[in-house]
Amino acid sequence: MKIKRLATLLCLLAMTTVMMADEFIRICTNNVEMVLRVSGNGRVYQSYLGKKLMFENDLSHLRQGGEVYLTHGMEDYFEPAIEVTHNDGNPSLLLKYHSHETLVTDKGAAETVVTLKDDKYPTSVRLHYVAYADEDVIEAWTEITNGEKKPVMLKKYASNLLHFNRPAYYLTSFTGDWADEAHMNTTPLKAGKMVIDTKLGSRAGMFNPSMFILSLNRPATETEGECLLGTLGWTGNFRYTFEVDNKQALRVISGINPYASEYALGKGETFVTPKFYFTYSNQGLGLASRNLHDWARRHQLKNGEGDRMTLLNNWEATYFDFSEEKLCELMGDAVRLGVDMFLLDDGWFGNKHPRHSDTQGLGDWQETADKLPHGVGFLVDEAKKKNIKFGIWIEPEMVNPKSELYEKHKDWVIHLPNRDEYYFRNQLVLDLSNPEVQDFVFGVVDGLMTKYPEIAFFKWDCNSPITNIYSPYLGKDKQTHLYVEHVRGLYNVLDRIKAKYPDLPMMLCSGGGGRLDYKALEYFTEYWASDNTDPVERLFIQYANSFFYPAKATCAHVTTWNRSASVKFRTEVAMMGKLGFDIKLSDMSESEVTYANAAVKNYNRLKPTILDGDMYRLVSPYEGAHASTMFVGKDKQQAVVFAFDVYPRFGDKRYPVCLMGLDPAKQYRVKEINLMPGQRSWMDGNDRVYSGDYLMTVGLNIFTGNKLHSRVIEVTAE
Ligand code: DGJ
Repeated sequence: MKIKRLATLLCLLAMTTVMMADEFIRICTNNVEMVLRVSGNGRVYQSYLGKKLMFENDLSHLRQGGEVYLTHGMEDYFEPAIEVTHNDGNPSLLLKYHSHETLVTDKGAAETVVTLKDDKYPTSVRLHYVAYADEDVIEAWTEITNGEKKPVMLKKYASNLLHFNRPAYYLTSFTGDWADEAHMNTTPLKAGKMVIDTKLGSRAGMFNPSMFILSLNRPATETEGECLLGTLGWTGNFRYTFEVDNKQALRVISGINPYASEYALGKGETFVTPKFYFTYSNQGLGLASRNLHDWARRHQLKNGEGDRMTLLNNWEATYFDFSEEKLCELMGDAVRLGVDMFLLDDGWFGNKHPRHSDTQGLGDWQETADKLPHGVGFLVDEAKKKNIKFGIWIEPEMVNPKSELYEKHKDWVIHLPNRDEYYFRNQLVLDLSNPEVQDFVFGVVDGLMTKYPEIAFFKWDCNSPITNIYSPYLGKDKQTHLYVEHVRGLYNVLDRIKAKYPDLPMMLCSGGGGRLDYKALEYFTEYWASDNTDPVERLFIQYANSFFYPAKATCAHVTTWNRSASVKFRTEVAMMGKLGFDIKLSDMSESEVTYANAAVKNYNRLKPTILDGDMYRLVSPYEGAHASTMFVGKDKQQAVVFAFDVYPRFGDKRYPVCLMGLDPAKQYRVKEINLMPGQRSWMDGNDRVYSGDYLMTVGLNIFTGNKLHSRVIEVTAE
């Protein structure tokens, strides 16, 4: 008997030891690893994030790290990831490990779910991490469940919290405005807090796009250094908080901006936060970007592995001033250029208040009879006759007060009931928290597609932030849900569109690039980077966006902005993205049209390399007078180098530029292409064969001392 009791005691002791020993949860891609530690005290910590560790045995050497999802109200003194007030008024949460599991998602990635529970209240938090092995990308989000009998108030509800412990941190953030998007700013992070957020609601990223680069120890370069690229998949208010504490530890909290957005979570309800996407690289920024691009094309971007159409858009060519005749002429221009599609922009709708300018008509989605007497169908047919596709612009989430929609349905409009309305671009935002409004917005696309099934493309615009923030639908108790429910309503609409029209290409546009994130790109095949199409400005904007978004998604058009840059220069900047034209051929000379037509042919031939290959940023436009980016096909058989001389000064010093990403053992012919009719290449070493090793070690003289000069160089394995 005594022996049995002793054995039981020993067994219990052993179990206690097992329970008290720390357990490790490894979240791994091929090269990156995050280690969570379940400590003996039942709390979960992030012990590591960085290059994948080789030996399991080493995990026990890791420091404990910071608590994985820090709560408000307990013993932490810095910014928490979550703040909940329970129904009895208790504002604290203490999360303890409950369980974890790893599953395989339908995209073949490994999803780890860690369940944490409060030890006094029935509140639980599930942390999700999806690891994409080949692309080294991790998606992280959280589900918060209220098990209490009454609602709890969520005051902060981050998607993710990451901890770092390094001697120095450098943050690159992006700022902008209309026609002035994506400026890159790098700053060291010192003790204290830096917050990047938006409160704009719909056109949420107009001032701050939702992407950031964090360099560890020292600023990462294209090829060296540790860095993390992070971005939230949320088409609304976001907030990133970077806080360096008294011990030089950094925490990065990413999620919906809780500003004016306390959320009452009802009994049994679960709040699902948006996904935070990040990648880590210890070999610099170039690799991190290529990983994100691969991940986006394979797993996130709508039809990411499909083809893209070149197009001619009428916006810059006509603005609101067009007729059927003018549009047909432009379709003829599209044919001469050799592009795939004609895109009809703003200004085709509204009858009581025809859309002759941006002051009226928005919301009334019927063709304006005096401009388009034969309707959109006539244009679709004309395009068909010319053997090109037809696309159309909409801005279905918005309304002009001068419209029939507003007159009929003011209850569908976000506005304060008892105040004068404030307008941004003469318009207001429809209340997408209201299911009837969701039906209406869905109906804009569905109605057009039903009537004109041959519409092949939509450009979906969004020109106003949310102003006059009040939802007639949500009622007085739920107003703080509006920013969140509005975005969820948008996703309901986009889900329905995607389900019904899975192959319909759509461009995400927001008064230029005012709205861009990876959740939206689940529904859109591409995005409009900026209304600023001055090619010099575009070199900077496209460069900045290339850290996160692949060329395939980045629409870039040739226009008349900056006429001191040649059509060749303008076209070659646009060829680094998804090529389009927004110009009438009467703005070009005969030889420019001939050039552009040949450039479209070259682009079509090079599309697999530019749109689906690996991108290498060779020379940053921020460095000064020149810029260069190259694309290498996945099989390393073909590459394209774009080289731009912007404003080199007298006496500009130029050096060979080393190419990247080639096979060192292969022989490549280097040839300047895309020349103007009659132009000869005078590039050093043109039309010669070099080894990949030479091109990557010694390089090529691709730059000149000429202002606004450009070159496209094709590199082909022999
Ligand atoms: C803003 C977009 O960025 C432009 O390309 C154009 O579509 C206009 N809106 C139309 O109003």
